[in-house]
Formats: sequence, structure tokens, C-alpha cells
Amino acid sequence: MILVTGGAGFIGANFILDWLRLFDEPVLNLDKLTYAGNPESLASLAGDARHVLVQGDIGDRALVARLLATHRPRAVLNFAAESHVDRSIHGPEDFIQTNVVGTFHLLEEARAYWQGLPAAEQAAFRFLHVSTDEVYGSLGPDDAPFTETTPYAPNSPYSASKAASDHLVRAYHHTYGLPVLTTNCSNNYGPLQFPEKLIPLMILNATRGLPLPIYGDGMNVRDWLYVSDHCAAIRAVLARGRPGETYNVGGWNEMPNLDIVKTVCALLDEMRPDPAGPHARLITYVKDRPGHDRRYAIDARKIDRELGWKPAETFDTGIRKTVRWYLDNPGWVERVASGEYRTWLNTNYAGRGAQ
Ligand code: NAD
Ligand code: TYD
Repeated sequence: MILVTGGAGFIGANFILDWLRLFDEPVLNLDKLTYAGNPESLASLAGDARHVLVQGDIGDRALVARLLATHRPRAVLNFAAESHVDRSIHGPEDFIQTNVVGTFHLLEEARAYWQGLPAAEQAAFRFLHVSTDEVYGSLGPDDAPFTETTPYAPNSPYSASKAASDHLVRAYHHTYGLPVLTTNCSNNYGPLQFPEKLIPLMILNATRGLPLPIYGDGMNVRDWLYVSDHCAAIRAVLARGRPGETYNVGGWNEMPNLDIVKTVCALLDEMRPDPAGPHARLITYVKDRPGHDRRYAIDARKIDRELGWKPAETFDTGIRKTVRWYLDNPGWVERVASGEYRTWLNTNYAGRGAQ
């Protein structure tokens, strides 16, 4: 069996659903169920004995030790994190606790467990750490995309905390020989993403006739990858990645935020026309995010060359599926948009105003 942390979040839930569609290998899911963790995302697994959800913190060493000893996973996949840049600006503390201290505690317990395994199981064990391209910092318009050897230059409390966790993971390989793998992926989108992030927020606001808040001039560039492609990349790295290596994962799909939002609006115009007019009328420029990274781009040739992974979805196919999913799942969206979420919207957007 495998231990997945943060499996009630956006990418972790997609990963578990895909995993159990493909394999019969059970998944133990350790998730703290923060605002971003949603067991409803895994509702289709109710009654499926291959998935067990344990509510708990990756930083709880006694709990992690007990889970490892009892369930004896062949791999630990660490998705658990505080993941939203804007929240890290308003309150970095949780990011340090979970992303840095939590990962450290998880590594410590994984190391103790791994060291106690019989030789064959020890050789087969993997600790896979799911990280982000944001650790590399911001690119200029003509810079080459990030490779696995690009120096780390994180700019937000979020990316700094992820960078710190990546360094710890690396050190546990160098120092103790723990068989670690790290993936650094670009921006994901797809079903089950919490609507604080750009794409689901825009879909949600547009369907409700609310402003679509574009930070700054809307020309910040991200590389966008459909979530199931990221999950496939993680499976490839787990199966065939070389311990101690890092793999950049991306969609070869750089786009400015404004183009993303206009694409979402055009799809909504087609799938759910608004009698009041085109959804793009709702686009509103607001005060920029402090320290907003201008451009991310991923060179994903290593994972293609070494592991034969490349994205299956184009942006056109992936974004169409995504908008469709949000329109078809209003109940999920409604329940996720809880009181805490509304408080967050006030915190993040009240001070920005329209530009
Ligand atoms: P998410 O915020 O949707 O989910 C995070 C999950 O972790 C939630 O279920 C939450 O309850 C859980 N969690 C938080 N703190 C925890 C703790 N201390 N112990 C146990 N569980 C805890 O995030 P996501 O978008 O699914 O991202 C998953 C991972 O992928 C993160 O490590 C993130 O840095 C990385 N990543 C995300 C993206 C992206 O675009 N979303 C891109 C690249 C990498
Ligand atoms: P986000 O989804 O928060 O991901 P990240 O900052 O980790 O890349 O944001 C993606 C881009 O969209 C980023 O450049 C910030 C921008 N953005 C907006 O313009 N408006 C918004 O309301 C949000 C949430 C993000």
C-alpha cells in the first residue's frame, strides 16, 4: 500500500481517484482537513476498502510513526501543504509549520521506518515529495524555462516554505540515503480545485455575475497543466524515477492570466450564456499581489526523456473539461464555498479595490 498525505486536497484527491481507477493497491490518506481538505471530493470511494482517510497532521510524529508501523507502506507521497500564495502573504505562519516543520517531521518518521525495514523492502521504498516550480523564482520575458538545475530563488512565503522543504528532502537523501524523489510542477487546473485559485475562482464568480479580479495588468505568465497529467507524472516518477533526482513537470503551455480568464469567459458564453451579456464584461483590474512573480515556465524535457512522460491534454481540451465539471457540480462548489471561504474573500479582495 501507499501513504498519501494531503489526499483530500485538489491534487491529492485527483491522484487517489486516478490511482484506484488504475490499480488495486490500497491508499492510506493522511490529511489534516484544513479549509482546503474536502472529504466530499473522495465521496465516490465511500465503501471502497482500498481507501482509508485518517484525519491528522503530517507534523504529528507519534501519529505518523503509528501509521507507518501499522500499515507498512511501500511509499510515502507528500502532497500535504499550505498551497495558496495570497494566504501566505496574509499569514505565513501555517506555511512554515506545515510545509517546513511538518515535512521535516514526516521525513524523520519516514527515515526511522525505512531504516527498520528488511533489505528488500528498504531498497524498494520511496519518499516522493510533491513540489512546485515557484521555488525557482520569476523569469524575464526572454529567459529560458526552468530546468532541474536552475538555482532556487523563491519570492513568496509559500514558495520559500516549499523551497525549504525541498532542501530537507534532498538532504535526507544525501545524508541518510533515504530514497527520495521530488517533482516540481507548474500551475495545475482541473476538477476539485478550491475556488481561491485563479481558474475556479473565475468560473465561480462569472457564473454568479461577480467581478473577475485580475491582479495588476493581467500579463503575469504561468505554465498550466491539467491535473490528471500531473498525477500521471507523479506515477511515472514513483515507478521509474531515480532516487535522489528531481523532475520538472509542466504543460508546455505558457499563458498570461488575462488570456486564461478570457478563455474561461468564452467557454461560459458557449456553455451557459448570460442574458446580461458576455462574461468578459465582468473583468476588473485590481491592486496587484505584493511581490507578484512575473513569469514561470517549465522545461519538462528530463521527465519526457528519462521516464517517457508528456502531457496528454492540451489547454483547449483541459480547460473545456474543467469548466464543464464546475458547471456540472454546483453542489460541490456550494458546499466548499463555506463561511470560512467567504471570510477569505473579504480578507483578500477588500483592500484591492478596482483599478
Ligand atoms: P490544496 O491546498 O488543495 O490541498 C492541500 C491538502 O493538504 C488539503 O487537503 C489539506 O487539508 C492538507 N493539509 C494541509 N496541511 C496539512 C498537514 N499539516 N497535515 C496533513 N494534511 C495537511 O493543495 P494542492 O493544490 O492539492 O497541492 C498539493 C501539493 O502540490 C502541494 O504540496 C503544493 O505545493 C503542490 N503543488 C500544487 C500546484 C497547484 O497548482 N495547485 C502546483 C505544483 C505543486
Ligand atoms: P494562483 O491560482 O493563486 O496561483 P499561483 O500564484 O500559485 O501561480 O494565481 C495564478 C495567477 O493568477 C497569478 O499570477 C495570480 C493571478 N490571480 C489573479 O489575477 N486574480 C486572482 O483573483 C487570483 C486568485 C490570482
